[in-house]
Amino acid sequence: MIDNPAAREVLELNQRLLEAIATADWSAYNSLCSSDLTCFEPETRGHLVEGMAFHKFYFDLEPGAGPRNVTMATPNVRLLGDDAAIISYTRLVQRLDADGAPMTSRVEETRVWQRVDRSWKLVHIHRSPPV
Ligand code: GLY
Repeated sequence: MIDNPAAREVLELNQRLLEAIATADWSAYNSLCSSDLTCFEPETRGHLVEGMAFHKFYFDLEPGAGPRNVTMATPNVRLLGDDAAIISYTRLVQRLDADGAPMTSRVEETRVWQRVDRSWKLVHIHRSPPV
């Protein structure tokens, strides 16, 4: 149970961010990110990538059909002072496969949030390859 208000806020914003990814909602995603966001993701092929263009590429593709449900399993939020937080969890995404059968994919993620001008922004992502 996460009861610190700032930690809960980061948790809620992170869930909103993951739902923006699941629904290909670029406007919502972009509004939650710092323009100089950095990331290591499987898609960056071992490179640290900075900026939003890398992420926008995927939002501009045709969104996957069918419903999706996103769960942060066993999230941990570590506050670093008043204006920074690290959140780590396993992201579970439920969707339908090509035959219409339900399936769940899983990735481990760490995201760093920073409060700038009283607004939390995602500033760094580190994600494992999907299993
Ligand atoms: N590549 C988008 C995200 O995981 O935030």
